[in-house]
Amino acid sequence: MSKVGLVGWRGMVGSVLMQRMVEEGDFAHIDPVYFSTSNAGGKAPSFGGKEANAPLQDATNIDALKACDIIVTCQGGDYTKEVYPKLRAAGWNGHWIDAASALRMADDAVIVLDPVNRHVIQDALARGGRNWIGGNCTVSLMLMGLGGLFKHDLVEWVSAMTYQAASGAGAQNMRELIAQMGAIHGSVADLLADPASAILDIDRRVAETIRSESFPKKNFRNTPLAGSLIPWIDVPVEHGQSKEEWKGGAECNKILGKPAFRSAGSIPIDGLCVRIGAMRCHSQGLTIKLKKDVPLDEVTQIIATANDWVKVVPNEREITERELSPAAVTGTLSVPVGRLHKLAMGPEYLGAFTVGDQLLWGAAEPLRRMLRILLE
Ligand code: HSE
Repeated sequence: MSKVGLVGWRGMVGSVLMQRMVEEGDFAHIDPVYFSTSNAGGKAPSFGGKEANAPLQDATNIDALKACDIIVTCQGGDYTKEVYPKLRAAGWNGHWIDAASALRMADDAVIVLDPVNRHVIQDALARGGRNWIGGNCTVSLMLMGLGGLFKHDLVEWVSAMTYQAASGAGAQNMRELIAQMGAIHGSVADLLADPASAILDIDRRVAETIRSESFPKKNFRNTPLAGSLIPWIDVPVEHGQSKEEWKGGAECNKILGKPAFRSAGSIPIDGLCVRIGAMRCHSQGLTIKLKKDVPLDEVTQIIATANDWVKVVPNEREITERELSPAAVTGTLSVPVGRLHKLAMGPEYLGAFTVGDQLLWGAAEPLRRMLRILLE
């Protein structure tokens, strides 16, 4: 049985990963070794009804890591940058499965999203590939939704306008978003309770609260999110893009096994990434330029049959309101795609909207599925 080292299992993505591995019975197929950056020697957890054979191991101990056939890490990019090169330099030849972006664009790494790029994974495995990295959440969720169109080579370009949840910024940001909502409500609770109060008085007080120094906002770089939005995610890069926007083009093309973004033969994918006040579902409004005029019912069929999780929501008001929202999708593996219609620009222009759980298909799920592929 493969010895699988688990690092960062206690954090937010790691916890979702453990939960999914329990649900899918993954622990029955592995001999788990739990690592810790802070509590080596402590009692290891027991997931999936399986006791670990050893206490918590030191996550920076190269000899302990070297004893694993496979390492799965959700510990973050700094950990990867510190430990991974030392481990390979020490001659370790095992499989490295990583949620962090640090190694994503390396030539010898595959960005894993097997319902979309199993062929890329298989090719890399056949060539002796050893590095399997989870993609950016927005990218993975877009490809889970639109994978069929790419598989049928119908996409000339895509513009993705995103509505990204607080979880993408981290656990503390989720807490802060709720604190912001609470502060807003608290500032007008008395006026809300009075049916005769004037809405513009409520609005004025809300605006003052959101703009006040004491509004809880340090995790969002001192910017309010509740009652507002933030049209910038991650650091600036080139061409006026944020890094999150750059990842859309760079990672999508890599996942699909295409030439590098902005080089001949790659698919132009670009847009604006925006943080909104959802908890853990990223949404995207998409403009897709198709290579030809494909009838809408055919487009619908192609999207709906691409994988077991995508679901087309008819472009009707009631069902869209019910099923195509973060509130409906949160905590599930379902990736609904809706608002499908041809746009006024011409018959090759398709409008679409998709929603997906940022911690599931956007982070944990592709990693555990890669682990299962390696165990096959
Ligand atoms: N970078 C993403 C975000 C999350 O900020 O929403 C991780 O993929």
